Formats: sequence, C-alpha cells, structure tokens
Amino acid sequence: MTAQAHRKPAFDAARVIAAIREALPSGIAQAPLHRPHFAGREWDYLKECLDSSYVSSVGPFVTRFERAIADIAGTRHAVAVVNGTAALHVALLLVGVSAGDEVLAPALTFVATANAISYCGAIPHFVDSEPATLGIDPQALRHYLRDIAERRDETLVNRRTGRRIAAIVPMHTFGHPVDMDPLNALAAELGLAVVEDATESLGSRYKGRPTGSLSRLAAFSFNGNKIVTTGGGGAITTDDRALAERAKHLTTTAKLPHAWAFIHDAVGFNYRMPNLNAALGCAQLEQLDGFLAAKRRLAARYRRTLAGVPGVSFVDEPAFARSNHWLNALLLDAEAAGERDGLLHGCNENGLLCRPVWTLMHRLAIYADCPRMPLPVAESIEARLVNLPSGPGLALAAEG
Ligand SMILES: Cc1ncc(COP(=O)(O)O)c(C=O)c1O
Repeated sequence: MTAQAHRKPAFDAARVIAAIREALPSGIAQAPLHRPHFAGREWDYLKECLDSSYVSSVGPFVTRFERAIADIAGTRHAVAVVNGTAALHVALLLVGVSAGDEVLAPALTFVATANAISYCGAIPHFVDSEPATLGIDPQALRHYLRDIAERRDETLVNRRTGRRIAAIVPMHTFGHPVDMDPLNALAAELGLAVVEDATESLGSRYKGRPTGSLSRLAAFSFNGNKIVTTGGGGAITTDDRALAERAKHLTTTAKLPHAWAFIHDAVGFNYRMPNLNAALGCAQLEQLDGFLAAKRRLAARYRRTLAGVPGVSFVDEPAFARSNHWLNALLLDAEAAGERDGLLHGCNENGLLCRPVWTLMHRLAIYADCPRMPLPVAESIEARLVNLPSGPGLALAAEG
C-alpha cells in the first residue's frame, strides 16, 4: 500500500453538515436544538384550569402529574415544584447538605447543578466524567478520594480543606445514565448521600431501572427544552414517604395544615408547581411514549448518517442503558478538535441550530476557586462535543 492509502480521510465540515441534514426530515429550513411539541390535549387541560379557576397552587392536575411522574421514575412518590433547580435545592437540603459542606458534582453540567449546591451554602467540588456516559467516572473518583479524603467519625473529610464532603450529585448527561452501581457502592462505603440530577433523563433506564429511582432523592426538570415540558417545572422523586412529605412541606412554605391559621414551622420555600403548569405536563406525559420512540428513531438515523464520516463519531447510549436521547451529540476526533467552532458556524448558517456543550463549571469565574479533581475527560469532551437538533417534533417527523 502507498503512504497515500494509509492516510486517514480528513475532517470535512461540509460532509458532517450533510450527514446531520440527512438524518433530519427533508424540507425543513431550520432545525432548532429542542423545541417543545404540543400535539395532545394541552389546550383542553389548560381550558379546564381556566374554566375551574384552579390556575395556581391548588388543583387536581398537580396530584395527577405527581402520580404520573412517580410511575415513570419507578418511585413511590413525586413532589412537583417550580423548576428543576428548586427540586435539586430541596433534595440536597433533605439529605442534610449544610452550609460549609462540600458536594461532589460533575464539572460537565449545566450551571443549575452547582447553583443548587451554592443555595445550601455548600461548596461544589468538581469531578471528572467518563467517555462512555459523559457523566461522573466512579473509578476515577474512587482513586481521587483515596488521595484527598479520609473518614473521621463517620464523616468524609477533605484533608486539603478540612471540610465535610456530604453528598454527590451524578447528572445523567443528555439523558445517558451515569454508571450508578459502582457510584452508589462508593457512596455507601464513604457515607455520602446521593442525589441524582435526573433533570435531562425522564424515561431513561439504567440496567432496566428508571433514572430518578437510583438514589434516595432525585430531581427532574420540565423546562421548555426538556423531553416533556410544563413551561417551567420540576419534580423530586423518592421511595421514602417521610422525605416526600418533608419535600412537600418545605416546598409549600412549611405551612402547618389548619382551616384558617397561618403557622409556618420552618423557613420554607414557595416552590409548588401551579396547576396550570401541571395541566400542560399531564397532556405532555400522555405523549411521552411516542416521544421516546421517535427520539430512538432519530438517534438511530444520526448513528447511521454519521457512521464513516471522517473526524466525528455519534455519542451513543452506554451499553447498560436505554437512554431517552434527550439531546443527540457528536464528538470530533481529537485531531479535529480545533474545528468545533467552524462546524458550529457552518451548521447554524445552514439552519441547523447546533450548540456546544456548557462551559465547564471550573471555568466560570463564580466557581473557579472551588475544589476540583483533574478533569482531562470533561475538558476533552468540552472541546469536541456538538449537540444536534433533537426536538420531539423533528424526531416524530423523521422516518425509521
Ligand atoms: C443538568 C441540569 N441540571 C439542572 C437543570 C435545572 O432545571 P430547571 O431549568 O428546570 O431549573 C437543568 C435544566 O435546565 C439541567 O440541564
């Protein structure tokens, strides 16, 4: 063979853009990253709220929505709240995160994960991802904690800062579940509470078990860009009845039940999801199975059209998982990492509203001084990942 034949074909942005287009339904001028899709009983349920005057914090749709979310998450209880950040905040408080604690969280996440930790007065401690899941790497974390932390009186202490490490927040990136078994085993050994940031992963499964049921408490988001939306909204899921009751209490201003008196026994939060939002959510959840199936089809199309395109690979679900494929993504090969912004420009100019992944948390000035482990995988993913148009509308229109 000649030297010429050995050379790998070069990355070519035009080929990548053509492959993305080919996966999408033909004839669309613009493909947004993730636009909500309302093709069910949304108008009917919203009208019911208006007709009944139950638009706010009381109403039957909230209970119905909570029941449906608990069923999907495979938990006994769900508590609906105003957004995913609020769900994370209260879940962290409920596992005992306090001011001055450190909480382990991925550097590769949306800022809300770290913000919820900060709302508790705690300090995020950033950890690395693994390539197969994009989420926290349990093995790398185990080695790191062996170096920097020690158990003192049933408490894990960061030897470098002297602070308690109270909890860990695995985040199921773009719907791909974290490898939870080794992570939960590590947490149990070290006495760490686990709160899943399941905000992106409604409908995903890890070894057959739904995300949201893989830790004591989990948080979902129903923001407008999620697989189903309530406009803005979130939920806390748990199997623990006492925790669910406490979550409900804290998220409804900690008011004691009474016919007329206003007695509040804690500084609670006005985090309850309004009935209007829950009504939208109920209509959306009736379409979830269809959205999930359509998103699998769209992911399969990206897998097929990107296969063999030089310089890129499709980010697939981990072998042990069934992902909801909330956001599809491609990764540039290491040699093509410098092409990311050019590709993003090319895509957006062509009506494909692709996006980079979030800026890693330790690069934000607000979190630059937080403790962190070496983050080579997260940094490499940040440099090379491009999110692809993935909304349920596009997915439903895409053929098998
Ligand atoms: C990883 C992650 N965590 C937390 C959130 C917060 O959810 P919300 O926007 O509903 O507050 C989101 C979504 O926006 C998210 O993607």
